[in-house]
Amino acid sequence: MKNIAVFASGSGSNFQAIVDVVQAGELDANLSLLVCDRPGAICLERAEMAGIPSFVFKAKDYSSKEDYENEILAELKKHQVEFIVLAGYMRLIGSTLLREFEGRIVNIHPSLLPDFPGKDAIGQALVARAKWSGVTIHFVDEGMDTGPIIVQERVRLDKNETRKSLQEKIHKIEHKLYPSILQMLLTQGGVTNDKKTRAY
Ligand code: GAR
Repeated sequence: MKNIAVFASGSGSNFQAIVDVVQAGELDANLSLLVCDRPGAICLERAEMAGIPSFVFKAKDYSSKEDYENEILAELKKHQVEFIVLAGYMRLIGSTLLREFEGRIVNIHPSLLPDFPGKDAIGQALVARAKWSGVTIHFVDEGMDTGPIIVQERVRLDKNETRKSLQEKIHKIEHKLYPSILQMLLTQGGVTNDKKTRAY
């Protein structure tokens, strides 16, 4: 079984979904570490409740991304982490981590990339009055939500869609899709075709 680390910045509902499947024996992985860039974030409480070690840092305490990523790297090595799962981690991954974990970092994003990359994808979809949005899981490269796409799942926006209702729809998809794709990536090294074009 591979040792994985989840990186998160906020509430960590996706982190929790991963904790739940690991604890239920439905994801063949050891959840070895939570990395969080916001002291006080709810995801840290979730990690504590689940007995998962966490590493928390503040980017502004370091002089560069390389500096804090070197520290993260040391933690990842200490916990023998082999695969990184970004789940609401609101920072770009730099070359220090990308070099060490090439092809072994995935991210989940709340839109159908390349639409609405970056921050507040849900707000962007609402402002654009999009008819469809969704969820993308992709490998991470040096760009902002630009790496090779693994899977996407669509969600239809209703006429009176609100931020809250769209976020709920997206979270519902994310909490099922991420664990199932992780299981495929970690155990089969790939994703089967039927997962690639599922419409919600
Ligand atoms: C998720 O919806 C995730 O897709 C998004 O942040 C949310 C975190 O929710 N990620 C991004 O926007 C990355 N660009 P959570 O903290 O409840 O898991």
